[in-house]
Amino acid sequence: MTKILVDCDPGHDDAIAILFAARRCELVGITTVHGNASLENTTRNALAICTLAGLDVPVARGCEAPLVGAATHAGDIHGRSGLDGAVLPEPDHAPIDAHAVDFIIEQAERHKGELVLAVVGPQTNVALALRREPRLASWLKAITIMGGSTTVGNITPAAEFNVYADPEAAAAVFACGAPTWMAGYNVTRQTGFTQPEIDRLRRGRGRTAAAIADLMQFYLDGQRRVFGLDIAPMHDVCAIFPFVRPDLLTHVEASVEVELSGRLTRGMTVCDLRNKRAGATGAIQEARRPNARVATSSDARALISEVIDAVLSYP
Ligand code: BDR
Ligand code: CA
Repeated sequence: MTKILVDCDPGHDDAIAILFAARRCELVGITTVHGNASLENTTRNALAICTLAGLDVPVARGCEAPLVGAATHAGDIHGRSGLDGAVLPEPDHAPIDAHAVDFIIEQAERHKGELVLAVVGPQTNVALALRREPRLASWLKAITIMGGSTTVGNITPAAEFNVYADPEAAAAVFACGAPTWMAGYNVTRQTGFTQPEIDRLRRGRGRTAAAIADLMQFYLDGQRRVFGLDIAPMHDVCAIFPFVRPDLLTHVEASVEVELSGRLTRGMTVCDLRNKRAGATGAIQEARRPNARVATSSDARALISEVIDAVLSYP
């Protein structure tokens, strides 16, 4: 089983990513970051999900603001708490004493060459960890990111939320040199629970399935209202699939760079999908070296079915 650390901002789809990673990988820890809601809320939400599902996993608090500027939250989609829609249990344990940045470094060193770092919120913790420990990139088996898009954005027409919420951090992470996977909004917005799938969760026996069904209903309603989508997109769990069922996503190797200064495009991921070969001599810009495996499609129904099975396996 793949050893994995999930760096997240729960978040409805983050909650699913945690539950899936804990069942289908060896989840060595969870680190929290600002994003869908304040750090206080995302940390509390991570602990509440662990309590709900009976997971004994260390949770380390991370950064409450991006490298530059103020935090952006996603209350339109995730509600004020970051995880509205269900009554969740009071957390039965506290975050560990270590800061997320230190915990990421410590776990990567302990599991050298084996640890996958799944980054499914703004990338502030990871950027700071890379800055503090320059060997970090070489210690990781992979970094797998939910963030960016090869096509449309969500928070702006051009930018996806996680990258927009800390573009300087995302730029540092994409440039770090670790084997990098990107599950962007282009694929994740088409990979989600349908209403009948949420109903199927609701019919599940455990308390976890019941609470998750309530959460997903709230989230689907928000996606319908705000984006006119008829699915609840499971953005974050898509980043974990390459290490569980690699056959359910298609990737291409590409250069990904983050726009930091555009008036309309700050936070956009510029993915070079031109399939540019050697040979042009005119004005066509040369391709940069690929730095990521970028998801271009998913087998959404099969992927979601795997996710539902994982959620239904909880008490
Ligand atoms: C990403 O933003 C957050 O709202 C979700 O949790 C996901 O990580 C999608 O753009
Ligand atoms: Ca997230």
